Amino acid sequence: MTRPDLIERLAAAQAERARQDLLRRLRKVEAVDGARIRIDGRTLVNFASNDYLGLAQHPALQEALIRAARQWGVGATAAHLLGGHREEHEALEEKLAGWTRRKCALLFSTGYMANLGAIQALLGENDPGPRSRTGQTLCVQDKLNHACLIDGTRLSGAALKRYVHADVASAQRQLEANADAAALLATDGVFSMDGDIAPLADLAALCKAQQATLMVDDAHGLGVLGAEGAGSLVEANLKQDDAPVLMATLGKALGVGGAFVAGSKALVDGLVQFARTHIYTTAMPPAFAAATSAAVDIARFEDWRRAKLHRLVAHFRHGAGERGIELLDSRTPIQPVLIGASRDASIAAQRLEADGYFVPAIRPPTVAQGKARLRVTFSALHEEADVEKLLNALARAIAHARRAMKKER
Ligand SMILES: Cc1ncc(COP(=O)(O)O)c(C=O)c1O
Repeated sequence: MTRPDLIERLAAAQAERARQDLLRRLRKVEAVDGARIRIDGRTLVNFASNDYLGLAQHPALQEALIRAARQWGVGATAAHLLGGHREEHEALEEKLAGWTRRKCALLFSTGYMANLGAIQALLGENDPGPRSRTGQTLCVQDKLNHACLIDGTRLSGAALKRYVHADVASAQRQLEANADAAALLATDGVFSMDGDIAPLADLAALCKAQQATLMVDDAHGLGVLGAEGAGSLVEANLKQDDAPVLMATLGKALGVGGAFVAGSKALVDGLVQFARTHIYTTAMPPAFAAATSAAVDIARFEDWRRAKLHRLVAHFRHGAGERGIELLDSRTPIQPVLIGASRDASIAAQRLEADGYFVPAIRPPTVAQGKARLRVTFSALHEEADVEKLLNALARAIAHARRAMKKER
């Protein structure tokens, strides 16, 4: 028999990654204090967190979590449909629906699972049941969408067609090429590795014209964009009818973990029946739901956090321009510094760390070949002085990486 060994196969793939200098490495964080983290015994200013509003360590969240854990226990102990769905979950769902101006919301344990479940339920064959479905379904997606939107489509068995990043005409061509299939157009609201915002109003108009359903993953928009931080759809003045499927996560601006899908009652009722990642998994711990409820109140009404983020981002962009640091076109707290070659990005990240800043390099396959970058993210916990020092450190790190690469070549 000549059957290949799976672990050896994995090791060979890893060796190939190492050869390309693209190995990923887990780093142990020894302590967290606001925007500071300790790694390898050194305190670093953290510019890699998605805790945009600075809520992950907020006392109100911690107290809500402990109170709920005392009342409910730590874990949900079962799936939502089998006794795991507690009052805390239901209260949070109502609060999230109200905040995002939607009829209903449904919780998932992570954003990854929410996207898998929602796309599979909408586009897949699902369980045999009262619905009869015919023909292949279609999912049209932005080229830079998050991995879990892609994986959800693979899971659903729908035809996946990608369009040029943020290019509505390209999306239109993909829909027109398959005019009879039931279709979902899925996009990140804010692109996780680039920080720019999808052309949501134009995509909504396209979907209307093409009778396709628009789904927006607002993992990085919720809490950050729009009135009361209600997200990129509210900022774009799009209603539930314009973008019927909203997914957003609870582990970024809200500082906890988990996710939800929000929309019509028909959508949420359908997900309860058919979204496998909601049905066949343990519900999020009720204490998480309680902490998230506390986070929503702060995220919604403490506007100063968003105003501060805005100021920090403006300061950073201005300072980068002055120093000739190349940024992508973003007005969100995700401010990537484009480097290009993976090796240069790694060297620059190491230099930044030596200087006291945690800004990991993002390399292929997370981003395209030749588009490696330092992904800087801001939090309301940073101060203007942190930004100024980061800018100087960045300029040094980029120059250092260029010199080092010249020597190597
Ligand atoms: C755009 C986007 N969608 C979904 C996810 C997945 O969310 P979660 O971390 O809750 O699984 C992420 C990142 O983690 C993301 O950046």
